[in-house]
Amino acid sequence: MPLTPDTELELLFAPELIPLDVKLSLHSDLHIRPLASTDYRRGHLDVLRVLTVVSDLGEEAWVEQFHRQRTCPDTYYTLVVVDKTTDTIVGVGCVFIERKFLRGNGIVGHIEDIAVDEKQQGKKIGLRIINALTAISERKGCYKTILNCSDKNIPFYEKCGFEKKENEMAKYA
Ligand code: ACO
Repeated sequence: MPLTPDTELELLFAPELIPLDVKLSLHSDLHIRPLASTDYRRGHLDVLRVLTVVSDLGEEAWVEQFHRQRTCPDTYYTLVVVDKTTDTIVGVGCVFIERKFLRGNGIVGHIEDIAVDEKQQGKKIGLRIINALTAISERKGCYKTILNCSDKNIPFYEKCGFEKKENEMAKYA
């Protein structure tokens, strides 16, 4: 199935926020854009499965979650990389913006849920996703962009310009 143009999609955020240089640096078969309300059908959850266990609650629940994110203004910036030849998703990532009372009511970008389809890894798709998310975070005025990752992924994030700082603590329910 050929690529559905952005103009025919209900998008999570304005596509102009994704820098042109990132769009142009992708292979000609790939397109980067905000998450769309019909992306359940393009394999969004299948790509996320590369990262962790994902329960599929069905399209209706997925669309509800999409609209929950869309109705939080200036908070969720989830984007996807689509294979133009099949109109399926091959990469995903999100930056979500936290509003603080410190640093003059400063804002922080949290990068979350980065995943690239196993067959497409090693082609700089992950790098482009991080470049786009970092640029969005900076364009929105975040004073820092941060993320948590496993030791295995540290070299990847270093290649993306990040450096190791402090430690992550977790307590699962
Ligand atoms: N170890 C060392 N170097 C790496 C690794 C790694 N694990 N992964 C990528 N790199 C390097 C690449 O070799 C490349 O280096 P180069 O510029 O010298 O050629 C550079 O990092 C960019 O790599 P990409 O091709 O852009 O990486 P890819 O598209 O494969 O995406 C990703 C990397 C997202 C980690 C992918 O492998 C993936 O989906 N892994 C499984 C899910 C996962 O772990 N996601 C990250 C979770 S952390 C979070 O979400 C905040």
